[in-house]
Amino acid sequence: MKALIVYYSMYGHIHRMAEAVASGAREVPGAEAVLRRVPETLPQEVLQKMGAIEAQKAFAHIPVCTVDELPGADAIIFGTPTRFGNMCGQMRQFLDATGQLWAKGALVGKVGSVFASSATQHGGQESTILSFHITLLHQGMIVVGLPYAFAGQMRIDEITGGSPYGASTIAGGKGERLPSENELSAARYQGRHVATITSKLVR
Ligand SMILES: Cc1cc2nc3c(=O)[nH]c(=O)nc-3n(C[C@H](O)[C@H](O)[C@H](O)COP(=O)(O)O)c2cc1C
Repeated sequence: MKALIVYYSMYGHIHRMAEAVASGAREVPGAEAVLRRVPETLPQEVLQKMGAIEAQKAFAHIPVCTVDELPGADAIIFGTPTRFGNMCGQMRQFLDATGQLWAKGALVGKVGSVFASSATQHGGQESTILSFHITLLHQGMIVVGLPYAFAGQMRIDEITGGSPYGASTIAGGKGERLPSENELSAARYQGRHVATITSKLVR
């Protein structure tokens, strides 16, 4: 089975989580996991002002996704930073270009899953993931989250992202916090979980 991990990252937090999701998916025998970025929509001068140019060099080698690639995947795991409690505009724009796929039912029956990142602990990770799920359901996808079988989301001994809806990381107000080992474990779990379920469906 083939899993596409389709994401946007401005400063690298979601990129790190995406790599962990991919490595988890690859643990499942016969699973292929491919990373793709969604196209940038902001002008260079805006990215410059946001301090994103340098950070984005670290994942510039990841190919940019086209909507035509989506039907070739059995599972699509989306990663997005939170923007005002929602997915980022780059991801929204990419998804809004999938109308032709929707019209053909090209994504119906595929597995969809979402992970996220926000600056603050309660800044909208859950709302970002849950509102993203609406689009996946409109596309007829089977939504998979992060079950409590991943016990790391029960932790209260340290601040951590992760909820039954999907893996997430807390980036900090200045992006100074990198995904913790627990958050990366959640991402790996989610990738493995999606790949395991999808493998059963495509058998
Ligand atoms: C326009 C804008 C809106 C944002 N809205 C939120 C928000 O609602 N809640 C929050 O905690 N962080 C918010 N953030 C912070 C981002 O979520 C954070 O920079 C991101 O998760 C870092 O991930 P990345 O390095 O992969 O881009 C916002 C950032 C920008 C630029």
